[in-house]
Amino acid sequence: MRKITLCFLAFILIALPGFADEGMWIPMLLKKYNIEDMQKAGFKLTAEDIYDINQASLKDAVVGLGREGSPFQHFCTAEIVSDQGLMITNHHCAFGMIQAHSSLEHNYLRDGFWAKSLQEELMNPGTTASILVRMEDVTDKINAALNDNMSEQERAEKVKEISRKLEAEAVKGTNLQANIKPYFNGNQYFMSIFKIFRDVRLVGAPNSAIGKFGGDTDNWTWPRHTGDFSVLRIYAGPDNEPAAVSPNNVPYKPAKFFKVSARGVKEGDFTMVFGYPGTTNEYLTSYAIDQIANVEDPHKIKIRTAKLDVINAAMESDELLRIKYAAKAANVANAWKKWQGEIKGLDRFNTADNKRVLEQNFNQWAQANGKSQYIGLTDRYKELYAAREEYILAAAYAMEAGLNGAEVIGLARNIKGALEYFDKAEDKDKFKQTIKDYVTSFYKDYDPATDERILVEMLKLYNNKDLGEQWIPGVIRDIKGNNYERHAADVFKKSIFTHEERLLAFVDKLNAKTVKKLEKDPIYQMMEGIQNLRSEKINPELSRIERELVTLNRLWMAGLMEMQPDKVFYPDANSTLRIAYGKVSGYKALDAVYYTPYTTLKGIMEKDNPNIYDYDVPQKLRDLYKNRDFGPYTQDGEVPVCFIATNHTTGGNSGSPVLDAEGNLIGLNFDRAWEGVMSDMQYSPEICRNIAVDIRFVLFIIDKYAGAKHLIEEMEIIR
Ligand code: ARG
Ligand code: ASP
Repeated sequence: MRKITLCFLAFILIALPGFADEGMWIPMLLKKYNIEDMQKAGFKLTAEDIYDINQASLKDAVVGLGREGSPFQHFCTAEIVSDQGLMITNHHCAFGMIQAHSSLEHNYLRDGFWAKSLQEELMNPGTTASILVRMEDVTDKINAALNDNMSEQERAEKVKEISRKLEAEAVKGTNLQANIKPYFNGNQYFMSIFKIFRDVRLVGAPNSAIGKFGGDTDNWTWPRHTGDFSVLRIYAGPDNEPAAVSPNNVPYKPAKFFKVSARGVKEGDFTMVFGYPGTTNEYLTSYAIDQIANVEDPHKIKIRTAKLDVINAAMESDELLRIKYAAKAANVANAWKKWQGEIKGLDRFNTADNKRVLEQNFNQWAQANGKSQYIGLTDRYKELYAAREEYILAAAYAMEAGLNGAEVIGLARNIKGALEYFDKAEDKDKFKQTIKDYVTSFYKDYDPATDERILVEMLKLYNNKDLGEQWIPGVIRDIKGNNYERHAADVFKKSIFTHEERLLAFVDKLNAKTVKKLEKDPIYQMMEGIQNLRSEKINPELSRIERELVTLNRLWMAGLMEMQPDKVFYPDANSTLRIAYGKVSGYKALDAVYYTPYTTLKGIMEKDNPNIYDYDVPQKLRDLYKNRDFGPYTQDGEVPVCFIATNHTTGGNSGSPVLDAEGNLIGLNFDRAWEGVMSDMQYSPEICRNIAVDIRFVLFIIDKYAGAKHLIEEMEIIR
């Protein structure tokens, strides 16, 4: 009986098309798969309006933010909103830039920053802004070079070789850059060709009390009142082409920019998010889900809790420490909180059970149809995940409690990495200076006393018996008398890494002999202990398992598609440009709790509490509210702040334009609601919501609060 209902359920699950709300779609394939559905949902434009390679289309105004060295790993999305390269993204996306320009004298985090003229806009070397020129399906070209007898490693090498070749051919004689990525677990390949700008300047940002209102307390939750936006500008050379950062550059004139709609949307209206989602895992098996929810996530959460307790106490105690640790704390807290929501959501929506049903169904289908390549696939998954468990746990400790635990361990690791090139460096002085610059920037935001406390917690966690002895590096396991406080104090006193002057002096005197001395340093030894454990005991076996999983995942995906030939699948997010569409919609969060889709300035005032850092509303905003000095930025008499919709988004989508049915900008995506953050592994239309800051709040803050009217005038606003 149970079996029959399970199969029936599975049938429904499988037969439901991937349409409406769920899905992150490939812009060049909208015409084929989605546009009709989108238009049915209210979209008024054509597929070519979104993506066209012959004339300007909306895609030309969407920007992937990256970093020099990894420009295709977009950490956030931004959108162009003027013919002068003006760009909006989230406050949390520009947080690193704002933080880097901040000091006690110029505390832009606390006070905000608004350039009054182009000359005052601040440069951010190392930040890249990519605009997609076109995409191409290169699956056949790559597959032509592959065969079934290749090992996973040979295959990967071949794919890389051909990809590099195709990429080079595609951009030959241009200033463009191409990048091929696998889709559908390596069953397909697409090439993205970008124009990458290297001069991105900070134009404005509200103070954190607005841009990060609610802080980590409200992070990942609805109702939300965060003014999570900042303003940037792309600069180009005098020829309007990408150029290295230079005072001679000029504002970029884009092929397309978004018009801003101050008309607002209401519940049920069409919305779409156009941006660079980073990673999702929608096609994992039950074995993977179980391991994430029961092993990986809980341990990582535990380690980060200990770290955050120390950092938060430090930030509470001192204003300078608050500045130094603001960006770091936000980083650590962000995934920490998400993992907690994820575990809950996976549990509540029985994700692992749903997957088990699918797997059962898959096995029956494979048997019934004699699909020998798929028979036994799920058993193999089961074995592999069982074998993976202790390795993945050891790896999690090595990263979270080890290399990313006390920061000074990471410092030692980076210095070691750099020194490997010392012999080869032609200009030794320049080489030393580069390292010294790195050390100085590390120390700008470093507090040894705080880090020492973190190290104590990490040593304790490592030794608290969650791990088998063999997974604890000797230097961490054999601490005298298990007195971690004394040990950390001792190590911090002796090491050169914990003292800026010592480290700088060491770099100054660098030569083949002095490098050897590092091996006696206690922080260096700890770092080496962790690294050796990883490279000798953890990684070889873990990589072997992961490689085999790559093979299985490719097969599994191909099998799923073969089993459901009528279903339109969307590929997992991979930091390439995607469209998600849905509608503005409230949701039922819990028993008896229904959330409506809009928040307003009134809600900010309700949260106002000068004694709580995250809810301390700036006096100027209080005054604007008291005088109801809202300008034209209201709906039903209040200033809208945030709204939620059913768009399927993930990390990397932050800053993405949220567009209305006509393709006008109505908000900036920045987060998801707590109950549905498991959407990276299973999307549920009842509960998964993306959170956007309403563009009218953005305009209100720029205009009424910051008084940066010239920026309002630079945009094209539809009222
Ligand atoms: N949760 C959002 C995202 O994943 C916003 C993060 C902002 N950072 C923070 N710690 N509040 O990026
Ligand atoms: N806050 C995320 C980001 O930074 C968005 C999300 O995970 O929903 O991209």
